Amino acid sequence: MTDASESGCERCIVAIDGPVASGKTVVGRALAQRLGWRLFDTGIMYRAAAWQVLQNKVPLDEDESVAELIRDSRFELRDAPGRDSVGLDVYVNGRDITPHIREADVESTVTVVAANRQVREMMVAHQQNQASRGCMIVVGRDIGTVVLPHAPVKIFLDASEEVRARRRAAEQNAGADEESVLVATRRRDARDRSRRASPLVAANDAITLDTSNLTLEESIDTAEQIVRQRIPDLSASSDAGPAESG
Ligand code: CDP
Repeated sequence: MTDASESGCERCIVAIDGPVASGKTVVGRALAQRLGWRLFDTGIMYRAAAWQVLQNKVPLDEDESVAELIRDSRFELRDAPGRDSVGLDVYVNGRDITPHIREADVESTVTVVAANRQVREMMVAHQQNQASRGCMIVVGRDIGTVVLPHAPVKIFLDASEEVRARRRAAEQNAGADEESVLVATRRRDARDRSRRASPLVAANDAITLDTSNLTLEESIDTAEQIVRQRIPDLSASSDAGPAESG
């Protein structure tokens, strides 16, 4: 396992954690674009793991079988194509499965797979390795607490349940009804907050940013101010440029 904290790379890491649809990815992407860094959304790895479990029809409650399948599968992250893209695509055994990781069956099972302790250990090792490759905005649930506890900037992005459900419904098809999105959002949050392995919680030294009453632009501006206060020599850090993919 590569510990990014030991490699010194954490000087240009921003950890963003928070509940479902709190704006982590959209704020993280905008920040990455402004700073010239890469965005690493760790949720794509848990989604890829859930997709692989579903593909192989392994019963979700068989923790050992799920862990064995994930151990035997090859997960890779590669730079998303496109000149302006800052994100990563996820590959399982050589296949780009990025287009599938937002599908409904993945959405409804990902929290179960993400609660598997052995799966988390494998994913965290992978994530620490990836984060040691350069300046990065790293987004997830346990980045500031477990994956990169020495990150110089930790932001816990939050918003009220209603606001988050409204945002998630708006992202989905025009037909998505807010009430059922609210129920699904609550269910996933409850699982993430109550699981035994690395539950969703703000790190002690994280700055909580509640975006319930902020526009997207205001949320991004505030996050950028926090980063610039915490990393004063930011221009020097940015010179490291976007990370190479692995
Ligand atoms: O974008 P959204 O908030 O809907 O979810 P996501 O960031 O794509 O993460 C999907 C699921 O993966 C979460 O609900 C967690 O169960 C899990 N996850 C995690 O456990 N730890 C992370 N670092 C990232 C995601």
